[in-house]
Amino acid sequence: MKRLLAGLLCAALLFCLCACGHEAVSAPTLLLRYADNQPKGYPTTEAAEYFARLLEERTGGRIRIRIYADAELGDEISVFRQLQFGGIDFTRVSVGTLAGFVPEMVILQLPYLFEDAEHMWRVLDGEIGEELLGTVADTGVTGLSWFDAGARNIYTRVPVRSLDDLEGLTIRVQESDFMSRMIRLWGASPVQMPYGEVYSALQTGRIDGAENNWPSYETTGHYEAAPYYLLDAHSRLPELQLVSRITLDKIRALDPDYEELLYSCAREAALYERALWQERERSSEALVRASGCIVTEPDEKELDRFRSAVQPLYGGFSDPLQQLIERIRQC
Ligand code: GCU
Repeated sequence: MKRLLAGLLCAALLFCLCACGHEAVSAPTLLLRYADNQPKGYPTTEAAEYFARLLEERTGGRIRIRIYADAELGDEISVFRQLQFGGIDFTRVSVGTLAGFVPEMVILQLPYLFEDAEHMWRVLDGEIGEELLGTVADTGVTGLSWFDAGARNIYTRVPVRSLDDLEGLTIRVQESDFMSRMIRLWGASPVQMPYGEVYSALQTGRIDGAENNWPSYETTGHYEAAPYYLLDAHSRLPELQLVSRITLDKIRALDPDYEELLYSCAREAALYERALWQERERSSEALVRASGCIVTEPDEKELDRFRSAVQPLYGGFSDPLQQLIERIRQC
């Protein structure tokens, strides 16, 4: 009898231990998906991995994020739409794409808006940057942090060294009517298409050129198909890390403190990206130059022609947006 009792006690103890242990293992966790259209090893995807690591460590493994690089989950527009419905949890997106959903973001597309990188960071790291992050909220998606994407320049398959050389050429832009207007003001014809289609369009001659920053020009291999790079630095388009509102609610439900944690990890990841970006801009430029591409640096007079041609883009905004431009200029 004693033996039977001892046996029963052991079994009860064992059951208890297993049950408790099981509970610890099955503490709710979230497995989330993060989309980026850049390849692995690119500053933005490296920063996404860093963000995922920080969040996983700081939540004791309760939030896990898998990064899908190289547009594996779709182009930027379709990924953004999926964020709105909670089909994808996070993304990093160019403001050029976001401007199609958030009218205030169009202002950041204005060519020659920022004097240089320092000016842009003064704006984005300050009160204006916070306000602009907030404007994304109306879309059902929350802005987390700003990433660097340098300055964009024009590149072509045929020699282009001045504004006049652009006349009549077909230039790819992001899916943005505003950028199409810019290209028209320079006398060329715009073609809107997703990033992933540009390489073959350049190769087949469907377009004569496109515009992008050094690291994108290099990693996509566009420099091989369009070796004339004109440093007009027309726009300094930042990028954003975003989270779906539906995902944010799930994160809050897991632990209300995780929301603040999410923002701080996103800010740290952004600083990490900015450091990587500076290195990558230099190494991409060196690689492209060494490959024999023809890089033209227009003089001030020529740059003034580029700037004056796009002045009409600064008109026609509502009063609040016009004031926003003014505040950015004063910053
Ligand atoms: C940059 C940016 C991408 C964007 C691309 C484009 O490379 O990082 O997010 O899609 O420009 O021109 O479409």
